[in-house]
Amino acid sequence: MMPVYKFVRPYWNNPEGLTFSDVRFTFPLIVVSVIVLSIVLSCSSNDYQVESVASVESPGIVRHANNQDLKDGKIPLEELLDIGEQIFRASLNTLDGAGNSKTRLLPNQDNISKINARFNRISGPDANSCMGCHNLPSVGGGGDNVANVFVLAHEFPNANFDKGPGDLYETHNLLDIGNERGTISMFGSGLIELLAREMTTDLLTIRDNAKIQAMEEDRPVTLPAITKGVSFGEITAWPDGLIDNSKIEGIDEDLIVRPFSQKGVYTSLREFTLDSFNLHHGLQAEERAGSDIDADQDGVPNELTIADITAIILFQATLEAPTFLEPKNEASKEKVNRGDWVFSDIGCAVCHRPYLELESPIYREPNPFNPAGTLSDYPIPDIYDIDLTKNSSTNSVTRSREGTILVHAFTDLKRHDMGPILANENREQRFVDPAYWITKKLWGMMSEPPFMHHGRATLIEEAIGMHMGEANESRLNYMSLSDADKSALIAYISTFGRK
Ligand code: HEC
Ligand code: HEC
Repeated sequence: MMPVYKFVRPYWNNPEGLTFSDVRFTFPLIVVSVIVLSIVLSCSSNDYQVESVASVESPGIVRHANNQDLKDGKIPLEELLDIGEQIFRASLNTLDGAGNSKTRLLPNQDNISKINARFNRISGPDANSCMGCHNLPSVGGGGDNVANVFVLAHEFPNANFDKGPGDLYETHNLLDIGNERGTISMFGSGLIELLAREMTTDLLTIRDNAKIQAMEEDRPVTLPAITKGVSFGEITAWPDGLIDNSKIEGIDEDLIVRPFSQKGVYTSLREFTLDSFNLHHGLQAEERAGSDIDADQDGVPNELTIADITAIILFQATLEAPTFLEPKNEASKEKVNRGDWVFSDIGCAVCHRPYLELESPIYREPNPFNPAGTLSDYPIPDIYDIDLTKNSSTNSVTRSREGTILVHAFTDLKRHDMGPILANENREQRFVDPAYWITKKLWGMMSEPPFMHHGRATLIEEAIGMHMGEANESRLNYMSLSDADKSALIAYISTFGRK
């Protein structure tokens, strides 16, 4: 069922092409009263809009998914994925509820400033569609530097650096208002989320085991927090049941592996997507705002249903993982193989793991470890469970002899201290030290230049040159390689993600 839209139209569509203030002074009082009354009745917070009797324009999202239909399994999976893709591609407009709600609610703003505030490159809304940024090399992908986002600048209603209400009366500059980050892709992201869910489950099991052992043996027990071969430090349990997670490293002390965002602070595609809709487009999902609640008072409640969000998540989760380019001839094969060997030999593979082993490829929404404000428990029938290896033709997902799935994403899903050059951000995000970043997935990188969290590396060699902190040794190793080995390593990485 489509949500009920209250069709409002901006004042510049009125027949005379006059601004609302022109109308007020040139039309007879009775006309003004009718207009004012209709505004009061229709959208008290949008004082510059008038109600249209018959809007011929349509929202960008042409079809919404209904929650009950999802619960009843009435929407065929293919159709749900189509709805998700359409929402991802849609150029969102006023009828979808897009726009800067925060600024509309500011008092004493004139019409020009309200209209200007519908889009703000720094503090958002900063795009019309998800695809506006996520499009390299195709829909769902990474983005050019032009699509960079100023993370956390979204806290300000309408940043324009005038120290006024849009800046919350604070003084900022471009470097400290938000953290500029490049757009990364969602190819293979369903597999990444599944890996993280399995790793979290392992770590929580280790914690439980330490607890049981400590109680049984009546002494403190310390266990290594290792999952899928990646060490996250250690966990100590005390006989009285207390847990000491202070030696946990590379993730939060709650032991939840958060694979999304380059900081590694988002648990799931769902958590990230809900924020994306709100911050980039001014759309609030029903599961955040509440049913039938028009949180941003733009006349559109239920801007995205629970089923809509599920649809767009499944669309993202099923985007095929990147493909490695096969070397064309024997000579280049030899070179790439040499590069593969060098990559491990100089320590790159310590963080950029050539594969992580996944036990089950069945993707199911929602993620049970989702934080409050994001669904973690919701009855979705198992016809929407998806085997992510079915119909997969990419060489970046293979099967081990034991039947497990090897996901060649080239990450360990752990945050690392990357040293001073990459500690460039002024605003700390979710208590993570600015020098720490989750190991970047390399599998699709050549299709999504530029590189590093801020896109300031346009060459592979520049990216390597920025590796310090825990990665310093591998950078120094790279610098001391022979020219032949350097070029073999670059040739190897150049095969990552070209279609
Ligand atoms: C203005 C550009 C822009 C728009 C629009 C945008 N994104 Fe993003 N997206 C980014 C950037 C930049 C990042 C990386 C953020 C970071 O590292 O903190 C990102 C990251 C993500 C991630 C995490 C991927 C990962 O592997 O960590 C998801 C999921 C995502 N976006 C989904 C969406 C969805 C869904 C929409 C539409 C509702 C959307 N994005 C709209 C720029 C954008
Ligand atoms: C200590 C862990 C660690 C080691 C060791 C390491 N990296 Fe990285 N690598 C990272 C992290 C974290 C990032 C993302 C940093 C950022 O964006 O600021 C990254 C980013 C990259 C990128 C950029 C990818 C992109 O799409 O932006 C490349 C290329 C890369 N690493 C290659 C290498 C090579 C080659 C080596 C060995 C010489 C290496 N790395 C060693 C952790 C590591």
